[in-house]
Amino acid sequence: MKDSSAPEKLPVHVGLIMDGNGRWAKKRRMPRSFGHNAGMNAMIKLAEHAQSLGVKYLTVYTLSTENLSRPKEELEALFGLFRSYFSKNVKKLYKQNAAVKIVGDLSPLPDDVVKLLKDGESGSPVGAEFTLIFAINYGSRPEILRAVNLAVERGEKVDEKSFGALLFTSGVPDPDLIIRTGGEIRLSNFLTYQAAYAELYFTDVLFPDFDGKEFDKAIADYAKRDRRFGKV
Ligand code: IPE
Ligand code: IPE
Ligand code: MG
Repeated sequence: MKDSSAPEKLPVHVGLIMDGNGRWAKKRRMPRSFGHNAGMNAMIKLAEHAQSLGVKYLTVYTLSTENLSRPKEELEALFGLFRSYFSKNVKKLYKQNAAVKIVGDLSPLPDDVVKLLKDGESGSPVGAEFTLIFAINYGSRPEILRAVNLAVERGEKVDEKSFGALLFTSGVPDPDLIIRTGGEIRLSNFLTYQAAYAELYFTDVLFPDFDGKEFDKAIADYAKRDRRFGKV
């Protein structure tokens, strides 16, 4: 029997595919934006919870490159949530000695949102004990292609170490655990290179209902896994 409370059984980096906001709202006969609002509140609580457990990095899949083709009004609602998070809540995070990092291509986003996101990153405390990483207009394939093109432009051959440094996630250890809420069993272009050896956890719980207790269940499940990395 493995000791699931042993510190080495806690993931250093958790990736979270926050899916199911739209269906959660639909069940309540509310617009999708209502679900995204509830999802943002759930995410804020989970980040605090993850930090309190001793997790060092939490990457939240906030907007995929594919999501950019959603209706304009849904995207506007999401941008509105980024605006409010990065102008208000982020300061609370700093006070708790937590930093913010953004991964993804911000260029198609409204200028004021890009500024808030960049300020959110640069205003982060140095040497923070926890980093909340927002994947925004993020897709693994464009991330990998961007890195390849950077290497080609520099005329460099890459190895795993130098290639990792060209990814958006440079400096961040690979995720140990990827959690997906909302019932789908897929990665949807999220950290596919970095998750080569991640443990995967899928739950039907819709993201706005995914609370600290549900997070603990995922951590307990992870603690029981035998991570062999190809060894015997
Ligand atoms: C995930 O919830 C959040 C984003 C993709 C922005 P969805 O919006 O995909 O919710 P469902 O899958 O339609 O329920
Ligand atoms: C994945 O959810 C993206 C985010 C959670 C931000 P989607 O709802 O977009 O994924 P698919 O389309 O069902 O694969
Ligand atoms: Mg979805």
